[in-house]
Formats: sequence, C-alpha cells, structure tokens
Amino acid sequence: MTDKDTGKTGPLVIFTPSGKRGRVDPGTPVLTAARQLGVDLDSVCGGRGICSKCQVTPGTGEFAKHGLTVAPDALSPFNAVEERYDRIRGLKAGRRLGCQAQVLKDVVIDVPPESQVHRQVVRKRAEARDIVLDPAVRLQYVEVDQPDMHHPSGDRERLLAALDEATGLADIKFDHHLLSSLQPTLRKEKWAVTAAIHLRPEPTVIALWPGFHEGGIHGLAVDLGSTTIAGHLVDLVSGEVIASSGLMNPQIRFGEDLMSRVSYGMMNPGGAGEMTKAVRDGLNRLFDELATEAGIDKATILDSAFVMNPVMHHLFLGLDPYELGQAPFALATGAAQSLMASEIGLTLAPGTRAYVLPLIAGHVGADAAAVALSEQPHKSDDLVLVVDVGTNAEIFLGNKTGVMACSSPTGPAFEGAQISSGQRAAPGAIERVEIDPATKEPRFRVIGSDLWSDEAGFAEAIATTGLTGICGSGIIEAVAEMRMAGIVDASGLIGSAEKCGSIRSIPDGRTHAYVLWEGGETSPRILVTNADIRAIQMAKAALYAGARLLMDKRGVDTVDRVVLAGAFGAHISPKHAMVLGMIPDCPLDKVTSAGNAAGTGARIALLNIGARDEVETLVHRVHKIETAVEPRFQEHFVNATAMPNAAEPFPHLASIVTLPDVDFNAGNEGGGRRRRRRG
Ligand code: FES
Repeated sequence: MTDKDTGKTGPLVIFTPSGKRGRVDPGTPVLTAARQLGVDLDSVCGGRGICSKCQVTPGTGEFAKHGLTVAPDALSPFNAVEERYDRIRGLKAGRRLGCQAQVLKDVVIDVPPESQVHRQVVRKRAEARDIVLDPAVRLQYVEVDQPDMHHPSGDRERLLAALDEATGLADIKFDHHLLSSLQPTLRKEKWAVTAAIHLRPEPTVIALWPGFHEGGIHGLAVDLGSTTIAGHLVDLVSGEVIASSGLMNPQIRFGEDLMSRVSYGMMNPGGAGEMTKAVRDGLNRLFDELATEAGIDKATILDSAFVMNPVMHHLFLGLDPYELGQAPFALATGAAQSLMASEIGLTLAPGTRAYVLPLIAGHVGADAAAVALSEQPHKSDDLVLVVDVGTNAEIFLGNKTGVMACSSPTGPAFEGAQISSGQRAAPGAIERVEIDPATKEPRFRVIGSDLWSDEAGFAEAIATTGLTGICGSGIIEAVAEMRMAGIVDASGLIGSAEKCGSIRSIPDGRTHAYVLWEGGETSPRILVTNADIRAIQMAKAALYAGARLLMDKRGVDTVDRVVLAGAFGAHISPKHAMVLGMIPDCPLDKVTSAGNAAGTGARIALLNIGARDEVETLVHRVHKIETAVEPRFQEHFVNATAMPNAAEPFPHLASIVTLPDVDFNAGNEGGGRRRRRRG
C-alpha cells in the first residue's frame, strides 16, 4: 500500500483510458482523486451530487495488465445522494457519481467519454484530426452566501466570490445586462444558480439560471458564403451538431457575385447598409429555424463562430466593402473579432458572443483561414496543396516549414453557372458521366437516383427525380470524358460528327455541341456546347494557374498530395479533374476530399478555444501571394487552358490514361482557335 516513487500510502487508483494512477487517502471521493491525479473528469455542480457530470464506471475483478485485483467493496457503497439521483433521473448500470463514491481499496476506474471535460469530437474522415472539446463557454453551479447585515456586500459580489472559488478562475467579470434580474434569480432556488462563463477575452458571466440548469448550452458555427449560408447548431457540452440548415444568401438580389455587390454599394447611397441588413435578417431567420428544428430554447445559444470571404465579412460587420473592389484591396480590419452578437444585429440571447475568424488578405478570407484550421497544412510533413473550390478558389501550398496562400478567380462555372444546361447540384441534375471511347455513347447518373441512364428502370427513376440539367461535377466529368473519348481535342474544340466519330456531335453555330441527352416528354435536351467547354477551361485554368504560381514561389514542380475542399470538391472525381488539368499531376490516391472544410473550421473554432489562438497565429504566418500582380500567373493561365496543359507534363495521368491525339483545328474547322500542343 506504499507508492515506491512518492512514498505515499493508501489505496491505488488507476484511471482509464488516461492510465493515470496514484495513491490516495482512504475515503477520498473519486472526483477529488481525479483532480489530484490530473484526470479529466467533469463537474458542473462542484461535487454536490446534482449535475451527474462526474459519472464513472468502476471495475471489479482481475486487471492483469495493471497487476491488480479489485475487490467488490473497493468503493464506498451507494450513498443517499446517489440513490436519490438514480431514483429520480436514473444512473446507467454500473455507474457511480464520482463526487459521492469514495475510494476504500485499490481500484480501476473508467471515465466514460461523456464525463471527460476535454473529450474528443470525432471527425468522420480518417485523415482528419479529432477536435478536442474545450469551448469558450462553460457552466458552473454554485450556492451563494446569503446576505448578512453584519458583513454587507452586494449579491453580485457574493456570486462572483462563489464562482471564483468554484472555478479557480480569478476576477470573473459580470455582464451588465444580467444585473436587473440577478436578485430574483438568486432567490428563486434558495441562492443556488448556474452561471455560464465565457472565457474570452476574460472570464465573464454571460447567462444565469436559478438552481441547476438542465437545458444545456449551445453554439452556432456559420459559413457565410456569397451564395449560400450554412449554419450548424452545436451542443457545447457534447460537441455534437444537433441541427444543420442553410439558406440562399438574401444579398443575391443585390448582385450574384461579390463584385456586383461591391458596385451596388458604390452606386447606391446606403446600399452597403441594405446588404448588411439583408444578411443579418437572413441569419436571424436561420438561427430561429435551427433552434426550432433541434427543439432547444434559443436563450441557450451563447456562442457563435463565423467564417466568410472578405466582402461578406465587411458587409456582415456593417463595413462598406468599397476598398475591396480595387487594388490594393485594403481591409478595414483583418483581425479576428470577438463581439457581442447583439452588436452585429443578431437576435440571440443578450450575452451571446460572436467570434469572427481572422482574414488572411484582401482576397483571402476567414473562410480560407477556416479551411487551413481544418486541414492543417502548417502541421503537414509532406507538401500539401489544399484547394477550396467555389466562385473563387482559395489555395494553400505548404507543410511544417511554411505555408503560402492565394485566391484565384475561377468564376461560377464549377457551380453549374454559365453552362448552357447548367444548374446547381440538386435532385434532377446530372452528376456523373461516362462516355464509351469506342462507341462515343454516354451514360450518366442523376442526383436522387442510383441508376445509370442505360440501366433498367432509369426512365421511372427520372420520372421521380426529374432530369433538369447538369451540375458542376457533372460538367467536369462530361468534358473530361469527351476528352478521353476523342470528341474534344486538347485545345477544347469539339470535333464534327465526321471528325470525332460521334453522331452526337451536332453543328452549333460556328462550332459543335455534344448531345448528352436527347430529352424526353418531361426533360429538356442536354447539350455540352463548345462555349460550355470554354467556360470550364477558363475556370480550371484559373485554378491551376493559382496552384502553379504557389509551386513556382515554393520552387517545386510537384506536390505530395492534393486536398479538395468545399461542397463541390467533395463531388469531383480526381481522375476527371486531372484529365482536365484542374489540379497538378500527382498520384490519384493522393487526391482526397475534405468536404466543407470552411464550415468544419468554424466548428473547430466554436468548440476549441485554443483553435482561436491557433488560427490567429496561423494567418500571420501564411505568406500571401496576390495573383493579380504576378506576371507568371497569366502565362500559367494560358498554358492551363489546354487539357490538361500546353506546357506541363502530367506523368501520373499519362500512366493511367492515354488521351487521344486529335486536333479538330486542322483545316480551321469550326472557325477555330490555334491549338496549343504540350511542350
Ligand atoms: Fe456534480 Fe458529481 S460533480 S454530480
């Protein structure tokens, strides 16, 4: 019963899964033992047997690994507090309240994930790091001393003294808006209250409930895009997303793209203010929807994290984005903002805080910073290219030794805009395409159905889903498949039926178009026109040129891996992206998708207070490259309009795909452009 290192006597306690162990005095409560040994065991009520956050599972019997036999009476018997808790709320079988159970003999105690303060929130992708739950808001239950005429002090002061003692935090502040309701709140449950304390920039009481607060606390992670706004309502105790919803950005009525919104602000007095109001109103509607969907009290939403591009950032904060419309793209501020949500027009609880992630540069926003926070290029051993594909592509290149970033204007073609039959990714849109290189006949799949168009039952399937157009990933596959089948040449020209060998090639003005779907009674004819291909070439050339420019700056010709972020990135097939030359050549299995990494970055900043420091440091370390003033960007862009590229070799691609050596410009067919050959 004596520890050889410390000389301490008493029963040995081993906590799992941490493996922390040590001897304690007999009769020590498990919660106290955990604190003495530095074990992560939660407690909101300070050991009063009210919150049940301290639940543990003691083991009994043989623990060969630890060389320990645990007797059935290693812990004190169930006491009255546990019995009452079990009777009223129910304790899971085998569980004890750590603040009540006392250590009497050697014991092994498991701390289940829900009792760990800093539990891991598991991210679904294998290569993604889990998020360590450590939110900026925490709850603390306290019983406050009653007023005493002989020792006069204010209710607020006695509450803060009780909180200082219970939390170990010094000099906790108090939101002024709580003062008017403080006295009735304290007296309602006989001086017992639960306080929500926000830790940044300094510990501050931001909400207060009488007695023990059962309703949990929640936060919002918001990706405020120029086209869509996505919001996630997150349980700040478990780290789980409990509701997600989105809406079209109501600013669209002032302009589809960012620059048209900047011009709307320039040309209309008060225009920027109108757009600010529109987006804030939209967010308030979204937050109401999320709270209703999750069935929670909106007053329990106490924190929020926002990511967005620089123009959206300025409009959201009520700043005129005028300067962002012209070089040198000066930001009013790029620093992270820790605000009261009410200051920026959000109708949440009076104490709710809003954290806006920092921007990287005038063209590289907080959404990009959030992608970096999620994908961690600055912690990568190998050289990684991270591309967030949207109307602008935000691109990072780097590893542990340094990270560079740029933004490249890809335009909306990847989202299905500027495409003759293009549409957003929604049920009824063609999302996958294959073309038989021998027959040049296509088959495709539509969002909402698992059937390919040449499979039995497809007609019935599209009667259900509709067949309305082609989305971004569909057009990319269509163009890449046309290139692989020899229907399109490297310059992007569609051959005539005679030259490309497909009767689906039909004249279309001075060029040709490929008939992907003849149309039916309820569905339109779907063509891939030469103008569509041109739009995709422009978009992918901008993306590639941005990536290549960063590679030049880094002095490399290859990257080790590519991460495609963004909702669109999640649906791109790496092979087709590489056939087009959207991304640099690398082994296909080194191209992965990160899903909505900007939204994930917002969630990380919401759930982990340290991540806010990390991203604020990171944006200063990232070396920004402004593509607009780099002469080589134009050169890379021109080379990258060819498929895959007029100057760069694509050896990994060549090892898996042989692209037909066709040239439909010969004889000036289609009134065409000069073909650029690979160098
Ligand atoms: Fe609250 Fe044990 S610490 S019930």
